[in-house]
Amino acid sequence: MFQAAPLTMTDKPSLYRDLAGMARGLLDGERDLVANAANLSALLFTSLPDVNWAGFYFVREGDELVLGPFQGRPACVRIARGRGVCGTAVATARTQLVPDVYAFPGHIACDAASRSELVVPLVRDGRVLGVIDLDSPSPARFDADDQAGIEALAALFISGCDWP
Ligand code: SME
Repeated sequence: MFQAAPLTMTDKPSLYRDLAGMARGLLDGERDLVANAANLSALLFTSLPDVNWAGFYFVREGDELVLGPFQGRPACVRIARGRGVCGTAVATARTQLVPDVYAFPGHIACDAASRSELVVPLVRDGRVLGVIDLDSPSPARFDADDQAGIEALAALFISGCDWP
């Protein structure tokens, strides 16, 4: 049985080091993409405070993002490349740290409660394969420490899964 270690928000770098250790444990001995995405979504959603959505979108045929495993309210299933925060992360291959989603042109509101968002692209061999998306009901919930922490988890996820 997986046991989550107690986490503290006082020191985000050490929080994310703890999370990376737990993610390594979850990925150990399992390379299935869906299973690992499901467990990482659950880890993020249950470990990070003040987050109302945590999950994955994967790039599918036609360069479209399709909803993957997540925790939170039901979300938009398909997002075109370049659209919204997630589609922008794909088109630019860069993390999108959005302190105010209403100020982001084209933001797609899946959950009306979301106020800030962090989207990290999953890049393997120069190709964007998907994104990790975190939403918060608080403005400016995510900062550079969250970005670095989620980018490190994205790297673990990319190397820990078999990709189609
Ligand atoms: N807000 C995202 C859509 C996905 S949901 O937040 C889960 C966007 O603008 O791409």
